[in-house]
Amino acid sequence: MEEDLEDIRKEVLNCRKCGLCNTRTNPVVGEGNPKAKIMFVGEAPGFNEDRMGRPFCGAAGRVLDELLESIGIKRGDVYISNLLKCRPPGNRDPQKEEISACSPFLERQIEIIKPKIICPLGRYSMRFLMEKYGLKDKIEPISRIHGKVFEVNNLFQKIKIIPLYHPAVATYNINMKEVLKRDFRVLEKFR
Ligand code: URA
Repeated sequence: MEEDLEDIRKEVLNCRKCGLCNTRTNPVVGEGNPKAKIMFVGEAPGFNEDRMGRPFCGAAGRVLDELLESIGIKRGDVYISNLLKCRPPGNRDPQKEEISACSPFLERQIEIIKPKIICPLGRYSMRFLMEKYGLKDKIEPISRIHGKVFEVNNLFQKIKIIPLYHPAVATYNINMKEVLKRDFRVLEKFR
């Protein structure tokens, strides 16, 4: 199993499928427990992630760590990935062609890890995952569906999709920390 994740890592490190390979410093493949029950899917690496090659290692990552800690989950218990593996210049929004080029890596990570719960963090990963799991008609603004549990049937198992606000929102609006904490409590019972 870990060998397969290693295959993905090698491919991502050498990937030139979209223009982001020209501006990235390091691709950010993802990290965590290969047998995680819970997988978080962010949008794309930011400045710090691009420098370090690790997901959520800047300000948003500190919020994510705090949220996990608040429900007694360690970072090493979960798997953390992103929809895009390379940083869009200036942290601009992901483009359609970039999502098409990069999302197969995420899909393969999901296939290998087989999480029971997938939490998209932010609207692009929410849209991608809800469309992938047949929830297109349930898509609403994240402000309306954050923390809701959507159960879907994957080929071999039931999966829960739980869209969450991106932790970065708490870095510019402190009140959002409480909203995020409340939503994270939904995960407590699935540990
Ligand atoms: N924001 C993301 O969406 N992903 C990261 O890895 C870091 C910040």
